[in-house]
Amino acid sequence: MNKKIGLSTGLRSLVQILRGRPQVPASLADNALLQVIFNRRSVRSFTRQDIPEDVFAAILEAGRLAPSTVNLQTWSFAVFNGDTWRQTFNRSIPFHANRAIIVIADTYRDRQVLDVFPYSPLVEHTVAVMNASLAAMNMNIAAEALGVASVMLSETGRTGLLDVRYLSEKLCLPKGAVPLMTMVFGYPRWAYPPMPPKLPTDQVFFYGQYVPPQRETMETWLAQMVAGYKAGHLRSSFEDQLKVYQNKIGQAEADLREMIFNRDHNEN
Ligand SMILES: Cc1cc2nc3c(=O)[nH]c(=O)nc-3n(C[C@H](O)[C@H](O)[C@H](O)COP(=O)(O)O)c2cc1C
Repeated sequence: MNKKIGLSTGLRSLVQILRGRPQVPASLADNALLQVIFNRRSVRSFTRQDIPEDVFAAILEAGRLAPSTVNLQTWSFAVFNGDTWRQTFNRSIPFHANRAIIVIADTYRDRQVLDVFPYSPLVEHTVAVMNASLAAMNMNIAAEALGVASVMLSETGRTGLLDVRYLSEKLCLPKGAVPLMTMVFGYPRWAYPPMPPKLPTDQVFFYGQYVPPQRETMETWLAQMVAGYKAGHLRSSFEDQLKVYQNKIGQAEADLREMIFNRDHNEN
């Protein structure tokens, strides 16, 4: 698939991005929680302002209290401030954020007292990923509600799923505890960026049987992705960014397979 687009398509795509708005029923436009959810953005530039302890404690609590399959709570969170991140990783938190949480899908802890899953590593791991991801989103929304911005990271600066082995070694994780992403938190330096191109409702919702994707709509969306990325990264491109991912994905795939499938279920 060619991800290069011409100038006029690029400009048209940027206009479409800028016109993108959450579709909120007028009767609900004042709802405070909906406003938090709809106005949330992934933020990658932060001020130096510290997040107060009580605010960060509330964000963590939102993770602890998240829903999970059979209330198994198959997650752990590695929690950092700037100093502890530097001690562990010898660099700043990505984007010079104020705090960071590494979200871990953790089936190791429950296994000490429960054998919920007969040897079924794919189901077990998938359940843990689902649950930990929901906890991450709970923390993300709690942060937004408190005026704290964040972004989830899967590769930036060796922070996520694509660096699973590196993170596991750094954090001394037992088998069955798999780092998924790092969330970094801080007060946003700038006004929130425009909403990135979201797929239209008729592409993502169906009622009854699956509706095949519309090629033209998908190509329009892809052109917006390419143009939006270029507008934010003049010296890079969406294609370059995909290559960065692709270079790391092979190793991550091998590491994950080993961590998830090649372990003796009763080992721990
Ligand atoms: C699991 C996950 C991993 C992500 N990894 C990265 C990342 O490594 N680097 C980055 O800049 N953004 C990352 N993001 C943020 C996405 O790029 C962002 O959510 C997407 O572009 C949509 O933008 P929005 O969150 O503002 O709606 C990640 C998001 C998720 C959910």
